[in-house]
Amino acid sequence: MDTPREGPWEALVAEALERIAAADQPDDLESARVHYLGRSGLLTQALRDVGRLPAQQRPAAGQLGNAARDRVSTALEARRAALAAGVLERRLAAEAVDVTLPGRRPVLGHAHPLRQLRAEIEDVLGRLGFATVEGPEVESEWYNFEALNIPADHPARAMHDSFYLDLPPGPEGRWLLRTHTSPVQMRHLQAMRGRLPVRMQAPGRVYRRDDDATHSPMFHQIEGLAVDRDLGMPHLKGTLAAFARQMWGPAARIRLRPSYFPFTEPSAEVDVSCVFCGGGGCRTCKDSGWIEILGAGLVHPRVLSAGGYDPEAVSGFAFGIGLERVAMLRYRIPDMRLLYEGDLRLLQQF
Ligand code: DAH
Repeated sequence: MDTPREGPWEALVAEALERIAAADQPDDLESARVHYLGRSGLLTQALRDVGRLPAQQRPAAGQLGNAARDRVSTALEARRAALAAGVLERRLAAEAVDVTLPGRRPVLGHAHPLRQLRAEIEDVLGRLGFATVEGPEVESEWYNFEALNIPADHPARAMHDSFYLDLPPGPEGRWLLRTHTSPVQMRHLQAMRGRLPVRMQAPGRVYRRDDDATHSPMFHQIEGLAVDRDLGMPHLKGTLAAFARQMWGPAARIRLRPSYFPFTEPSAEVDVSCVFCGGGGCRTCKDSGWIEILGAGLVHPRVLSAGGYDPEAVSGFAFGIGLERVAMLRYRIPDMRLLYEGDLRLLQQF
C-alpha cells in the first residue's frame, strides 16, 4: 500500500466486510479478525505504512486508515454478537423441553415376596412384643446343636443334613451353615444375662442339603422365644392364636398336635385353619381343613440352663415359622424354587 488514499482503504474494507459477513462460525470470524486487524493483519500493516508517508500526507491518510479500521472492527463486533445469538438460539432450539409432554414413569422395583412377607410377620410379632434379633449364618456345632439339646449322636442331626465349612474346628466344634434359626435363641439368652422378660424374634436364612419342590438348600425361618416367670402352654397358644388372626384374619384358628423337638418339652406342631377353604376341606389342605405352619413348644430346661437361666425359676416358649411355607400358602405357589429364580413374570405379580 504505497499510496494509501481512499481507493485502497475502500477496497480493503469492502473485502473485509464481505469476509466478515460470510463468517458463520465464531472460528471463521476470529480468523477474519486476525487476517485484517491482527498484529500483522492487512489493515494493521497499512496503518503502519502511513507513518512512512511524507509528513503532509500523513494526517489525511491516518484519518482514512483509522476510519477503515473502525468500520471493520464495528462489523466484527456486530457479527460476533449475531453469531453468539445464533449459537444460543440453536442451543435453545436443540435443548428445548416440551413440559407439556406426559412424563415417563420410571420402572420401580419392589421387595421380593419373601421380603414382604417377612416384614409383615416381623411387624405382627413386633406388635405382640417380640423384638427382632439377628444371629450369624455361620454357626458352631455347639450353638446349632449341642446347646439346643441335640447331642452328636442324636438322630435329629441327620434330619438337619448340614453344610459343614472347610475350616479348622473351634472350641465350639465344627463350623456349619446354620440349619435353623434356633441357635439365635441361645445367643440371645446369653446376651440377656439372666434378665427378664425375654421376648425375641429372629428372622433369617437357614441351610440344609435338600432340594425339591418343597425344599430348597437355602430357606428362611422366623424364630420366636419368650422367657419369663410362669410362662406355659396357654401363653404359647394365646400368642400363636393372636399371630394367626393378625396374619389370616379374625376367623383364623389354630390347633396344636403333640410332636417332638429336642429343644422343647412338650413340643407341638401347630396348624392353622385352612386359609383357603376356612376349614371345610379343599385341595390345599388335602381335605383336612388344617395346614401346618410351624413347630413350637415349651423351652427345654437344658436349653434354659445352657443360656444361663435357672429352669426352676423361669420358663418359656419357643416357635419356629417356615417363611417359604407361609409364602407358598398365601400366594398359592406350587414350587418353592419359583421363589428363588428371579423370574420377573412371577415377581411382578407382587
Ligand atoms: N428349629 C426347628 C426346625 O428348624 C423349628 C422349631 C420347632 C423351632 C420348635 C422352635 C420350636 O423354636 O420350638 O425344624
